[in-house]
Amino acid sequence: MAFATSQVVRGFSSSAVRNVVIKNVTIIGGGQMGAGIAQVAASTGHSVTLVDTSDDILKKSIKTIEGSLKRVVKKKFADKPEAGEEFIKKVVQNVSTSTDVESAVQSSDLVVEAIVENLKIKQDLFSRLDKLAPPHTIFASNTSSLSISDIASSTSRQDRFGGLHFFNPVPMMKLVEVIGTPATSQETLDSLLNFSKVLRKTPVSCKDTFGFVVNRLLVPCIMEAIRLYERGDASKEDIDIAMKLGAGHPMGPLELADYIGLDIINSVIEAFRTKDPNNPLFNSSDLLNKLVAEGKLGRKTGEGFFKY
Ligand code: NAI
Repeated sequence: MAFATSQVVRGFSSSAVRNVVIKNVTIIGGGQMGAGIAQVAASTGHSVTLVDTSDDILKKSIKTIEGSLKRVVKKKFADKPEAGEEFIKKVVQNVSTSTDVESAVQSSDLVVEAIVENLKIKQDLFSRLDKLAPPHTIFASNTSSLSISDIASSTSRQDRFGGLHFFNPVPMMKLVEVIGTPATSQETLDSLLNFSKVLRKTPVSCKDTFGFVVNRLLVPCIMEAIRLYERGDASKEDIDIAMKLGAGHPMGPLELADYIGLDIINSVIEAFRTKDPNNPLFNSSDLLNKLVAEGKLGRKTGEGFFKY
């Protein structure tokens, strides 16, 4: 396990040598994102400890990882099913699970937090971890909408704290946004960038500004599409066709909103509005509020802008 990681890191520029070589990764939160991050970290030779609040949730996380690996293997090992089985076995062996945060961070080089999107709960967790983890351990949050500085302020290691923002589904999406606060050290940023590359992702760097790069551009675009439809300027089908064929987007903005979840779009734009109330791009939409109130949240509930 150490072999795969250090081998790739050794191939990077000399500045990488100064960084913490990340071998042992603790992932807190075994939901959609945490399970995906655990899968890619374990697939690239890291020793992963996945933490959640109950054994039942963790069993589900492992099932999710196994299901996802089976899909990967079907493509990658199409001609060699036995090698595929062996690969799945090895990857799953790299993941251990725990409901005990204390023991889970004891030999951790990196903690990636992917729990519920709530500042107080994330701060409480990191404040606890700060006392339990070794001094060299880097902390990272996968938050989409909270400030990394605000989360890091609950710890005494703000220089070893950054954002690692993965995209859903993690095994498929190539991008990782690496977020540095004014207090994050260059060594920490280099370590997080290198780690992302070792995961075979493409990292981009961004300051700790709300929405980072992707959501800052994407969510206002989706809101504008909703407003266009709400005003009756174009049909929902035509809006999606237009952006697919005219802007080269793989999914139309309304279909994408349904995929992400209308409740999530609504809470992200609300968070943006709180930060910058005068920006009309961050205004709410009556139609979006209505759909969310009716429980039409998109794909996950069977209906949003479209029916599934
Ligand atoms: P989720 O609801 O699927 O998973 C969260 C998991 O955290 C649950 O299994 C829950 O039991 C566990 N958890 C909650 N509190 C905990 C605690 N104190 N200790 C240990 N485990 C705890 O959520 P999801 O979608 O995986 O999101 C997680 C984080 O990732 C959030 O901060 C979210 O904003 C962010 N994110 C989500 C994306 C998405 O598309 N779902 C994309 C990028 C970031």
